[in-house]
Amino acid sequence: MSGRERPCVLLCVSGCIAAYKSCEVLRLLQKAGCRVKVLMTEHATAFVGPVTFRALTGETVAVGLFDDPADPIHHISLAKEADLVLVAPATANVIAKMAAGIADDLMTTTLLAADAPILVAPAMNTGMWTAAATQDNVARLRSRGVGFVTPASGRLACGDVGAGKLADVGEIARAALEALDPARPLTGERVLVTAGGTQEAVDPVRYIGNRSSGKFGYAIAEEAARQGARVTLVSAPTSLETPRGVTRVDVVSAQDMLAAVEAGFEDATVLICAAAVADYTPAAPADHKLKKAVERLDAIELVETVDILASMSARKGDRTVIGFAAETDNVLVNAQDKLARKGCDALVANDVSRADSGFGTDDIAITWLTADGAQELPLMSKREAAAEICARTALLRQAAAPSLKNRD
Ligand code: CTP
Repeated sequence: MSGRERPCVLLCVSGCIAAYKSCEVLRLLQKAGCRVKVLMTEHATAFVGPVTFRALTGETVAVGLFDDPADPIHHISLAKEADLVLVAPATANVIAKMAAGIADDLMTTTLLAADAPILVAPAMNTGMWTAAATQDNVARLRSRGVGFVTPASGRLACGDVGAGKLADVGEIARAALEALDPARPLTGERVLVTAGGTQEAVDPVRYIGNRSSGKFGYAIAEEAARQGARVTLVSAPTSLETPRGVTRVDVVSAQDMLAAVEAGFEDATVLICAAAVADYTPAAPADHKLKKAVERLDAIELVETVDILASMSARKGDRTVIGFAAETDNVLVNAQDKLARKGCDALVANDVSRADSGFGTDDIAITWLTADGAQELPLMSKREAAAEICARTALLRQAAAPSLKNRD
C-alpha cells in the first residue's frame, strides 16, 4: 500500500447484470476507509449509469479512453493512482482479455498498465464460467498473481442454476481489504466474542450485575475485525457503540448469553469469552417489584449459571477458545488454576485490584497464559492489549490447524 492516508481502490465494473452490486462493494470499501474510483466499460453503463457511481464517490467516473481531454494518458494515471485494482463484476470477456494482454478500451489498457495488486470477482452464466477457455484464463491469471474471489453457486439471472453468481459483496470487500493490507492474521477466521457484564433480573426493576464496562471485549471485537476476522459480538448491556464491521447480538442475562454463544459456536473458529458473566442468578425472578416491608430481598434463592467458557471448551473440537480471569489476589496462581479448570486454549489474566488497570479504565496490564507458560505484558491501552490478544490468537490458530484456513 502506498504511504497515502487513504488507500485508493480502482473499482472496475464490467458489463453484467451484477453490476449494480458493485455499488454495495463500493460502500463497504468506503466504510472501511478506502477512497474508491470507478472505471466502467461501455457495456457496464447499460446496467448502471455512471452518474450513480459519481454520486457515491464524488469523483468523475472513467469510461472512454478519450473522455478526459485534460488527461490524454488517462489509463496510465488511473493505474498509477490505485493501491488495488478490483474488477467486480468481471465478465468472461474482460477475464479473457486480461489473460491475453488485449488492451482495446480504457479498462483493459488500465489493467495491462497496472502494477498494483489486481483482484477479480467474476460473474457470468454457469456455462461461460465452467468453459475450458474461461478456466484456462483464470488459471493463467492466478499464476501471474492475480487474485480471485470465486463466484458463488445459485440461481443466475438467466434462470440457470449453478456456479457463476457474483460472490457475496461482503466477501469481495473483505478480500479487497486483505489484498490492500495482507498483514491481517485473522483473515478467514470467524470469531465470536462475549463482552460486558450480564444482568440477572431479581424483579422488573432490580438486577444483580457487576462493574464490567464491556470496553475490553469491544476493543477485542474491533481489533479481530481489523485483523481480518468475521466477528460476532455477543454483548451484555453497555453504552458502547458497535465496532465497525462487527455483527452484534444483544443479550441481558447469563442464560441469554449462553443461548447466543451456542447459536454462534457452530460456525465459529474462535471463541473469546471476555464477558463478566454472573455466577449466580435468581431462581425465580419476581414478576412484580418486591416490597421491602413485605418481601425479604435477602431471602432470594440463587442458582448457579452455566459456565459458558467451560462448557464451550468441553466441545471445542478444532476451535480455539480464549478465556479471561479478572482477579484481585494471587493473580497468577488463580489464573493457572482457571486455565486448567475451564479447559480453554489460553487465558488472559488481569489484576482488577490495580487502580490503573481493570474495570472501566482505558489501560490494562495482562498476563497471557497457555499450557506452555505465562507471559506478563506491560501496562498498555486496552486497544493495544486487544491487538496483542488477537495476534497471539492468530498464532495459536496457525500452530494448531494451518490447514483450516479457508483462504481462496
Ligand atoms: N465465564 C463464563 N460463564 C460463566 C462464568 C464465567 O463464560 N458463567 C467466563 C468469563 O467470560 C471468563 C472466565 O469464565 O472468560 C472466567 O470468569 P471468572 O468469573 O473469573 O471465573 P469463575 O469461574 O467465576 O471463577 P472464580 O469465581 O473462582 O474467580
